[in-house]
Amino acid sequence: MKTRVAVHRDFRISKIDDRLYSAFIEHMGRAIYSGIYEPGHPTADADGFRQDVLKFVQDLKIPAIRYPGGNFVSAYNWEDGIGPKDRRPVRLDLAWRSKETNQIGINEFAKWSDRAGIEMMLAVNLGSRGLEESRNFLEYVNFPGGTEWSDLRRSHGVENPYDVKMWCLGNEMDGPWQIGHKKAIEYGRLANNTAKAFKGFDKEIETIVCGSSNDQMPTYPEWERQVLEECYENVDYISLHKYFGNNSRDTLNFFGKIEETGRYIQAIGGVIDYVKAKKRAKNDVYICFDEWNVWYHNRADDARRVGEWDWPEAPALLEENYNFEDALFVAGLLNEFIRRSDRVRIACIAQLVNVIAPIMAQKGGPAWRQTIYYPYQFASLYGRGYALNLSVDSPTYNCRVADDVSYLDVSAVHNIDEGKVTLFILNRHLGEDAELDVSLTGFDNVRLSDHFVMQGHDLLSTNGPDAPDRIAPVAGTGVGVEDGKLVGKLAPLSYHVVRLDVG
Ligand code: AHR
Repeated sequence: MKTRVAVHRDFRISKIDDRLYSAFIEHMGRAIYSGIYEPGHPTADADGFRQDVLKFVQDLKIPAIRYPGGNFVSAYNWEDGIGPKDRRPVRLDLAWRSKETNQIGINEFAKWSDRAGIEMMLAVNLGSRGLEESRNFLEYVNFPGGTEWSDLRRSHGVENPYDVKMWCLGNEMDGPWQIGHKKAIEYGRLANNTAKAFKGFDKEIETIVCGSSNDQMPTYPEWERQVLEECYENVDYISLHKYFGNNSRDTLNFFGKIEETGRYIQAIGGVIDYVKAKKRAKNDVYICFDEWNVWYHNRADDARRVGEWDWPEAPALLEENYNFEDALFVAGLLNEFIRRSDRVRIACIAQLVNVIAPIMAQKGGPAWRQTIYYPYQFASLYGRGYALNLSVDSPTYNCRVADDVSYLDVSAVHNIDEGKVTLFILNRHLGEDAELDVSLTGFDNVRLSDHFVMQGHDLLSTNGPDAPDRIAPVAGTGVGVEDGKLVGKLAPLSYHVVRLDVG
């Protein structure tokens, strides 16, 4: 299969917001308990944080992390997680029918985030609670002192406020499963009042309003229009969520969901523009894609177990075992985020540890990186700079979810400070090599710097505690720079990260 890509230094999509490579972690399953926190684990520090997990997290260079939920946040009392640990209540988590011990709360999580080098992005409960509790939380978290809530924080040993700038106004409020689910207008008003109060406290705060839970919801995209009409001027982002699966075992259709996601982003972009025009608003609203991942391997089984079990504490839940095909999919989806970075400013892989996660941690045992860890890591490390607007010429295919899907899925990022262009290339063809011919206009003295590849594995092959590195990137061969062009052959079903020195 012959392919041609034209890269031009001056044809830019956007400056990528680093937060495109953010993550999400929820109080559910073993994400927090026996995920990031397990006192007594051989690698735990004095605060109970697992150092093996922390190292894998640090290696991802995650810019921001959304916390504490998710469905969990919609019935969460943030006050349960502060003060002496032995006096914290054990509560029922209604979202996941589990017990929450509250041994981790905002101050412990802030400490962990700090060690991980990640900025917090906090969600408030607009399900069972509202503006009053949200503003108290804001005061506890962000006010220096001399007020009831800020002095309470200081009495808990945290002298300086955290100065959290990113605030999510609830979670998936369109979903009938959500505790405190609301109609669009009702939620839009509550979100508007909450956002206004937060911005009145600090005008640098950025607010994120809930869009639809996914693009298959019956109220999508009308939900977005109605919500934004209530709150447009006071919000900075609208959140999108989408999870993916290949239940029908149709790899090309699975990969076509990357294109489907592009349409989702485009549609919400259209709604944003419509509301902006209708309101004669000056401000821009961007997309925060704050939950995305593959989630289908155990999904039906998990839903059944949650319905049947008797309120366990930190049960194994949503522990997807990701295969090589999932890693290829994640690579392509990250390409789509880069290509849409003019609209999508923040995106969060959901989630980070144990629960639909790139990192797994056995209780009392080892931690390991799942297959999807690597494309996420490559994007986070090398996908910072300007997204370039490419011209891609490749054979295409039609599938159930999309037509004219290019077999060659590619994005490129120019990092001016480092003098590098990075190409992220996925050959989605099931059986043919992609003959690569990439012209690079406007760059001098182009040289190959690095080439990493993931290829040659069975699509269903996974990593696990007994084979933690079965699927991992290796140094690539077979591509090179000739007469200023990048040329070479890419095997079917392969993912490549090609870094070029561009002077
Ligand atoms: O990430 C798992 C769940 O998926 C989250 O709690 C919820 O927001 C979404 O439906």
